Amino acid sequence: MSIFISSKLPHAGATIFTTISSLAVQHQAINLGQGFPDYPMSTELVNLVNQAMQQGHNQYTHANGLPALRQALVHKIQLLYGQPYHEADHITVTPGGTYGIYTTITACIQPKDEVIILEPAYDCYAPAVELCGGSVKRVAINPSNWTIDFAAIETSITPATKMLIINNPHNPSGKVFTKEELDEVERIVLSHNLILLADEVYEHLVFPGQQHHSVLGRPALAQNSMVCFSLGKTYNCTGWKLGYVVSKNEQLMTEFRKVHQFNCFSVNTPLQVAFSQYVQQPQPYLEIGGILHQKQQLLQQLLSHTGLEPMPCQGGYFQTYSYKKLSDASEMDFVTQLITQYGVAAIPVSAFYGEPTENGLIRFCFAKKTSTLEAAAERLKKLGN
Ligand SMILES: Cc1ncc(COP(=O)(O)O)c(C=O)c1O
Repeated sequence: MSIFISSKLPHAGATIFTTISSLAVQHQAINLGQGFPDYPMSTELVNLVNQAMQQGHNQYTHANGLPALRQALVHKIQLLYGQPYHEADHITVTPGGTYGIYTTITACIQPKDEVIILEPAYDCYAPAVELCGGSVKRVAINPSNWTIDFAAIETSITPATKMLIINNPHNPSGKVFTKEELDEVERIVLSHNLILLADEVYEHLVFPGQQHHSVLGRPALAQNSMVCFSLGKTYNCTGWKLGYVVSKNEQLMTEFRKVHQFNCFSVNTPLQVAFSQYVQQPQPYLEIGGILHQKQQLLQQLLSHTGLEPMPCQGGYFQTYSYKKLSDASEMDFVTQLITQYGVAAIPVSAFYGEPTENGLIRFCFAKKTSTLEAAAERLKKLGN
């Protein structure tokens, strides 16, 4: 006998990343769609994991995360943002950034609570809110220059508003919030006593000359915040799915840990042992912004004769391009053409909106080997002709 359930996410299908990746495979396209590096990660880090396994660190560890890793992260935060955090109360290690985001929302959002997200937005925020019975209020970031309309955020706040979600550096735009923008976020969050969920998974992927202003550097704001990080993004190992969540608010962290203990309990031990040593070295996380900047510059140079117009970008893995000079097609149709006719995959920026929104924008991931970027550009050479 079959069992019938009513879907909790009736409108959700496969994510755009799955859809584009399978289309890319089908057409043997070079995949500049999904955000992961195709170049090797640190062999030292791989060896540290290997060593941890050989030494027998293969059983459950502390539910909040290996104490030595949390301690190392506390030191790193103090070094970067000049604020004291405590491993016992303020940090929980998670299996990736997405899990930290999902668990924060699950722990904080009750039915009928409202959550404000800024669009274009990473795709995991809204479904998590909906699964908790909350509703999503969407405020658009200006698609011509990626500026934020703080007045529109304030207008969308009601007595039911519980949370604001920000993503800095931002996916898909590559926007890095200025100090003044974070000042505004702080003013709004504190004056309306909201919870701030700050998705800072691209914390270190910031181009030279730019500065990442973390919520962790602001003690008052950190009291109202849960800040999510991804070691996978920082250390070129997205498939390892390891991250952590930081908050100065012990009540929020206690509620987070209650949900976490029944869902995951503890996170991959040998990876945590390895990272407890590796995160102590500043060089790998300090140099990644410069490496990615070179790749972004290379992509821009290689595509400069295609008619695609690059949008402002200060960090992250992604460069958005306007194709308005080339085509009136919808973003999905344009991306489909790129895959099927030119053999290069991109992501339509429309996929980052809850309501149909067409701005003539696509997103390429530039965290790729030079040879991959060159091969993709070679295929796109005829685009403007
Ligand atoms: C904005 C944003 N947040 C979170 C994540 C997920 O991070 P993780 O792979 O550590 O779950 C991603 C991954 O692409 C992302 O782009």
